[in-house]
Amino acid sequence: MRRLGILLSGRGSNFQAIANNIAAGRLDAEIAVVISNRESAPGLQIARSLGKTALAIPSRGLDRTLYDQMVLEELHRHTVDLVCLAGYMRLLSAQFIAAFPRRILNIHPSLLPSFPGLDAQRQALEHGVRISGCTVHFVDENLDSGPIILQAAVPVRDHDTVDTLSARILKEEHRIYSEAIAIVLSGKFSVEGRRVRINAQ
Ligand code: GAR
Repeated sequence: MRRLGILLSGRGSNFQAIANNIAAGRLDAEIAVVISNRESAPGLQIARSLGKTALAIPSRGLDRTLYDQMVLEELHRHTVDLVCLAGYMRLLSAQFIAAFPRRILNIHPSLLPSFPGLDAQRQALEHGVRISGCTVHFVDENLDSGPIILQAAVPVRDHDTVDTLSARILKEEHRIYSEAIAIVLSGKFSVEGRRVRINAQ
């Protein structure tokens, strides 16, 4: 099981970090397809420049079930084993999640369960937390929910802005997403309730 399907809506830096780690031999996987709900997503251009199959499937006007069915068809067509949400700003339908049980990951720029949803870094600053970070988790039907695989913490500094805090967190995102993918691809983990146990061997 090594073929990744990447879903993204925007910039694509997490996708690029995954692609870099694969190219550098740090992650044993291949990118089978990159799909975006936004035609203009810079991440699609990055994928094309890397010679990856990159598809825009615009979601406007389609109901979630129909849209997810279209995305699922492409993931199956490209024999994807593991789906990685990388800045994919849509909730997945129950039918999508059932098609890839424990085979869909997401990255979120906060220490979940704090600050789910949009603008997580701004939420953290406005709340006044001293520590924030990022989370890679299995995806379920709820927003930024599902069992947590890895987290990384960063300090929030007095003079931070959304941009400076986001940059500090993003550096950790780029590191832990590939690490979490490697754990899931290795199969050396178990999930008990919400707890993911990583078996080091
Ligand atoms: C990342 O910070 C990711 O954690 C966040 O969107 C950004 C995408 O950046 N995802 C979420 O907020 C999911 N709820 P990228 O397109 O450069 O990878």
